Amino acid sequence: MLTVVRHPLIQHKVTMLRDRRTPKKVFKELVDELAMLMAYEATATLAVDELTVQTPLEAATGWTVRGKKLTLVPILRAGLGMVEGILRLVPSARVGHIGLYRDHDTLEPVDYYFKIPGDAAERDFFLLDPMLATGGSAVSAIDSLKRTGATRIRFLCLVAAPAGVQRVHAAHPDVPIYCAALDRELNEHGYILPGLGDAGDRLFGTR
Ligand code: PRP
Ligand code: URA
Repeated sequence: MLTVVRHPLIQHKVTMLRDRRTPKKVFKELVDELAMLMAYEATATLAVDELTVQTPLEAATGWTVRGKKLTLVPILRAGLGMVEGILRLVPSARVGHIGLYRDHDTLEPVDYYFKIPGDAAERDFFLLDPMLATGGSAVSAIDSLKRTGATRIRFLCLVAAPAGVQRVHAAHPDVPIYCAALDRELNEHGYILPGLGDAGDRLFGTR
């Protein structure tokens, strides 16, 4: 399942993100805000538990999100920019990390770090990466999560290419993808067109 979240605020902020003139500080703020807005959509089906609270007048029935079971997993580096915005919505979420980079020649992902909380089978995972290009990184990260027993995984990105969506759907049809924009295509270097450039470099000022 692919959900393109077309809220006006999201479209406005993605357009600012694409703009080559957007400075690093603003780029980082936009990724943070977009992640929070995307999470609002992606959390719509989270499980809740019923509970009773006392208002100043009487007892009221309410619900609490099983936040401790929500686990955010940014794909390093660029996924890191999406963590804080979601944690503002779900402060009790845990955070794991997956380190991957794309080999410049093959465009295939190279693994360098993996750490997630225990009890993977009990958790809802939000895998985070602003860019879904060839899909190699997302598929590898989902493979790694599933090897630990994870069964409920959602992939949240900002800009996706059709090839990446197809690759993730083919390898992991059970993993819903949420994006803020579905772009046209990849260029010969595996960059998304029109895209926004290199998300990690723009977030961390490494170019
Ligand atoms: C970027 C991006 C994704 C990956 C997407 O990371 O953040 O992780 O490329 O490409 P794919 O869908 O073709 O795998 P990159 O490899 O540049 O690493 P970085 O975040 O450390 O710069
Ligand atoms: N990674 C990026 O950061 N940007 C792209 O366009 C593709 C992969």
